[in-house]
Amino acid sequence: MTSFKIALLPGDGIGAEVIAEACKVLTAVERKFGHRFEYSEDIVGGAAIDKFGTALRDSTLAMCKRNDAVLFGAVGGPKWDDPRAKVRPEQAILGLRKGLGLFANIRPVKMYPFLANNTALKREVVKDVDMVVLRELTGGIYFGKPQRRWSDSRGRKAVDTMRYSEAEMERIIRLGFELARGRRKHLTSVDKANILDTSRLWREIATEVAEDYPDVSIEHILVDACAMHLIRRPADFDVIVTANLFGDILTDEASMLAGSMGMLPSASLGKRGADGTGLGLYEPIHGTAPDIAGKGIASPVAMILSAAMMLRLSLGLEREADAVEKAVAKVLRSGQRPPDIPAKGKRPLKTKRLGSVIAQAV
Ligand code: NAD
Ligand code: IPM
Ligand code: MN
Repeated sequence: MTSFKIALLPGDGIGAEVIAEACKVLTAVERKFGHRFEYSEDIVGGAAIDKFGTALRDSTLAMCKRNDAVLFGAVGGPKWDDPRAKVRPEQAILGLRKGLGLFANIRPVKMYPFLANNTALKREVVKDVDMVVLRELTGGIYFGKPQRRWSDSRGRKAVDTMRYSEAEMERIIRLGFELARGRRKHLTSVDKANILDTSRLWREIATEVAEDYPDVSIEHILVDACAMHLIRRPADFDVIVTANLFGDILTDEASMLAGSMGMLPSASLGKRGADGTGLGLYEPIHGTAPDIAGKGIASPVAMILSAAMMLRLSLGLEREADAVEKAVAKVLRSGQRPPDIPAKGKRPLKTKRLGSVIAQAV
């Protein structure tokens, strides 16, 4: 029996609701494949602010480093949204990404053929969507200094700084080429090079790195146009590589290409070991969904698919990851679906029920 250590950070709102369902599915994986998952759970985000006065304790970060992978729900909510607050739930996820060196955020966007009929967009537009958005995660405007607000005689002011080093850009762009090489060999680099110096440097580096990948075609698009092309011709995209903020925004948009916000998983990775695995953090791209939190109706799909990514990318359990992904597909195909993508004429399943059905299908 192989044993793996997993850090569990449920967070706030629906974070805790969906992570419980991912654990059910992981229990099914333990049974079926004879593994053992040992969990260390901790409080992060708003819940940690309430209890400890900080969103992420040093001990939590240290605990994550002792594990093989981190499974993260989501943090934040109206209770902690005072714009003047010094401590904010979101500091937990930012601190984990930075503290664990997780610079590469992989967000796959795939439309299941059987869902293409009942989403907000036309079937012809979304039916062949299959892309990966690679988002830079530990640099850019999220972390640049100075970042602060102040007042002077002319009123209130605030500054954020978009800063990137060549090395930070190169490693993520290179990874974009590597991912594209393993797929349909087309990389879209998204920037705002008509306005931003960071983007002009980004484009320059992307053009240089491209020389090492003659087998991969590269296309540069401005982020505003990309937002439009994602809706107009989403199936054309293979791998998109982009900076932190652009990737954040574009993937919320892209979630609708997969049916809903409750569908997109993500993996946040740092440097990898020789066998390709290494510590990673796995979380849905969605947040704490305050509008539905506590109602038991959140979709656990994104969280469960994030657990599958964890099995594959941090634990090296490819067959197990496949089994989870197949179980999700089988259940959704059968018409047993969450309320955000209901099947016509069928009653949607609540969070816990859908989690149990998917675990059963594993
Ligand atoms: P959100 O992703 O929480 O919700 C956006 C919309 O999508 C809502 O209508 C919500 O009901 C729906 N939705 C999200 N997840 C869903 C699911 N699993 N099933 C069904 N519907 C789902 O974004 P928001 O409302 O802008 O943010 C709420 C809070 O979450 C904020 O405090 C934000 O900072 C935080 N947030 C945290 C993370 C994270 O921890 N990684 C990510 C995004 C947002
Ligand atoms: C995400 C979220 C986070 C981000 C927030 C909560 C810090 O929106 O993971 O997409 O902006 O990266
Ligand atoms: Mn986001």
